[in-house]
Amino acid sequence: MTTSQPPASQVLDRVLVLEMVRVTEAAAVSAAKLIGRGDEKAADAAAVEAMRAAFDELAIDGTVVIGEGERDEAPMLFIGEKVGGAIGTGPRIDIALDPLEGTTITAKAGPNALAVLACAEEGNLLNAPDVYMDKLAVGPGYPDGIIDLAKSPTENVKAVAAAKGVEPGDLMVCVLDRPRHAALIAELRALGCGVALIPDGDVAGVIAVTNEDTGIDLYMGSGGAPEGVLAAAALRCVGGQFNGRLIFRNDDERKRAAKWGIADLHKIYKLEELAKGDCIFAATGVTDGSLLKGVKRRKDGVLTTNSVVMRASSGTVRWVSGEHRIKR
Ligand code: FBP
Repeated sequence: MTTSQPPASQVLDRVLVLEMVRVTEAAAVSAAKLIGRGDEKAADAAAVEAMRAAFDELAIDGTVVIGEGERDEAPMLFIGEKVGGAIGTGPRIDIALDPLEGTTITAKAGPNALAVLACAEEGNLLNAPDVYMDKLAVGPGYPDGIIDLAKSPTENVKAVAAAKGVEPGDLMVCVLDRPRHAALIAELRALGCGVALIPDGDVAGVIAVTNEDTGIDLYMGSGGAPEGVLAAAALRCVGGQFNGRLIFRNDDERKRAAKWGIADLHKIYKLEELAKGDCIFAATGVTDGSLLKGVKRRKDGVLTTNSVVMRASSGTVRWVSGEHRIKR
């Protein structure tokens, strides 16, 4: 860092928390125009472009560490791309982002699509390659280490049920509805658990364990590793426990792990290993979901948004309602 660049911690503290909401709002509002239009790519592209432009309004020297893909596959917000309006002079910040988490959901007007990002001081977010991650999450209030990805789903369910003082069959587990989860779902149902199957959107699925109103006790199953880091950043802010293990299905994926400096391919990552130190998580709803309401257009043409922004060091969670008079 050059001496003229202020420490990132100062900016995370004072300015960025609310500024990050502008960025997710911009992406959500743009993607919302494509809700239910059956075009995943167009919805994603709209969100990406709007998020990219919104970053340039911020006085940061940002680096995308989790983004839309590698440089040769993504035109914008690719991994390694510099973003922000103060490159070389502003505080250096690492950013994990998903301008549209739930492209298929958006195309089909389903639940839980979000525009989402997390940021932290340089070096504090795991540079997760775009592979799958096995995920296990539980909400706040349980003893440390209550969940352990090295153990079976049955052992984890029994441990959480015992700590909650209920039977395993009283728990509700959220799982992505995928054929690869057939054995997991069968094991959970054999225990008598409720299984809340979601079509997509496991960032919201993982965060659901932190909100008792959702009725979801645990999150289990595999999904995108980048989404795992984003969800972990949120849990760092609001509490809860998370275990993630990267899944490498072939040599190409194993090579990519080496490229991102991941030596232990079987490592189970805990929250602090995915998102260290102080970090900020921000999300705006694109479609209605368990975390946030989606973008709506009122009769007077005003667009309304609902966002949440959280900070790990203070644990502050702010729910932000926006009214956007786009014509102005
Ligand atoms: P996209 O927004 O990229 O479509 O991701 C949606 C999602 O459901 C994620 O939330 C999840 O982590 C991942 O896809 C699961 O991948 P797959 O659809 O291959 O099971």
